[in-house]
Amino acid sequence: MLARRVLELKPSATLTITAKAKELRSKGINVIGFGAGEPDFDTPDFIKEACYRALKEGKTKYAPSAGIPELREAIAEKLFRENSLNYSPSEIVISSGAKMILFLILMAVLNEGEEVIVLSPFWVTYPEQIRILGGIPKVVKLPEETGFVPDPDAIKEAITEKTKLIILNYPNNPTGALYGREVLEKIAEICLEKNLLVISDECYESFVYEGDFVSFASLDEKLKDITFTVNAFSKTFSMTGWRVGYVACPERYAKVIANLNSQTVSNVTTFAQYGALEALKNPAGKEFVNRMKAEFKKRRDTAFDLLRSIDHVSVVKPQGAFYIFPNFSYYSEKVGGDVELAKILLDEGKVACVPGSPFGAEGYMRLSYATSMENVREGIERIGEVLSKLG
Ligand SMILES: Cc1ncc(COP(=O)(O)O)c(C=O)c1O
Repeated sequence: MLARRVLELKPSATLTITAKAKELRSKGINVIGFGAGEPDFDTPDFIKEACYRALKEGKTKYAPSAGIPELREAIAEKLFRENSLNYSPSEIVISSGAKMILFLILMAVLNEGEEVIVLSPFWVTYPEQIRILGGIPKVVKLPEETGFVPDPDAIKEAITEKTKLIILNYPNNPTGALYGREVLEKIAEICLEKNLLVISDECYESFVYEGDFVSFASLDEKLKDITFTVNAFSKTFSMTGWRVGYVACPERYAKVIANLNSQTVSNVTTFAQYGALEALKNPAGKEFVNRMKAEFKKRRDTAFDLLRSIDHVSVVKPQGAFYIFPNFSYYSEKVGGDVELAKILLDEGKVACVPGSPFGAEGYMRLSYATSMENVREGIERIGEVLSKLG
């Protein structure tokens, strides 16, 4: 009796592996987890305290569907200050994490049978959400040789009369690739020429180790009219469980997205929004982010050096986010695929990694270095040992 739209639905691969690792750990097994899609830092106290204050002040009732006005205002200021984006609060909608925001955007603009260009390796959720809504993910593969940075001509070739939208995500999950101004400008030109909408998922903007982060819509005045800039407090302030994300887009879309929000989640937990407000307003927010970033950069360097010293493994140095995406195909081909290899790594090495295939990249493995430096070293050492036995 299930609806057709969910017959092909897959559970989130990243959450599944994290759960498996937790289960083993609860049995007392020393598992090193590279599966986490969240910083290993606690949410800072000053943010928690703002939330406690909001609770004590009775901010425990329904809030406006698009978000509390103070937070929409603070997000507009942040986008202006940090991203050179000029949005008014009425062009901002807050929902339950970037994930729900993405779903609401797709719900608002995508008709059945329309195509969405998704660059692979992709974040696992994009194709699933598109399919749930009857859309068609049109996958454009990004080769490792180009550092997983898109070739604008390949994007152009993938466009048909059914293409409605393209999703960009940089720094990227799972590759850590950052797209530079030049590539983005070429993509922008194509989108404007072909009349495509753009989702720019900028959730990892705070974690850039080389190069500059450029918000897609800031490249050209005209882009504001076609772009949905998506972001969240989840990764930047280590607030994944708070579920606060947002979109900035033209008001004609923002109104519809807010209406969809009102008919689905109603509003993001009211007191959580006050915590998010403090994260933006308090200068301690920036200090916290910089501290995390410095730590991630060290781990990124260590992970990169260790992985590339393993025989038959190639790896692109990630420029951002907190993931590294080595090519293990030499080994995965020996054992029947990357899912099988991930199982072997977990069973024999007690290391949890997410296989590349759910990201559209068979033979790769996603390692999140949002775990201690000690774990990064020990975990990759264990991987090396398991692989050398296979080789
Ligand atoms: C690229 C990307 N976009 C969006 C999200 C979702 O973020 P949130 O936790 O705010 O829903 C994630 C989380 O892993 C992500 O990696």
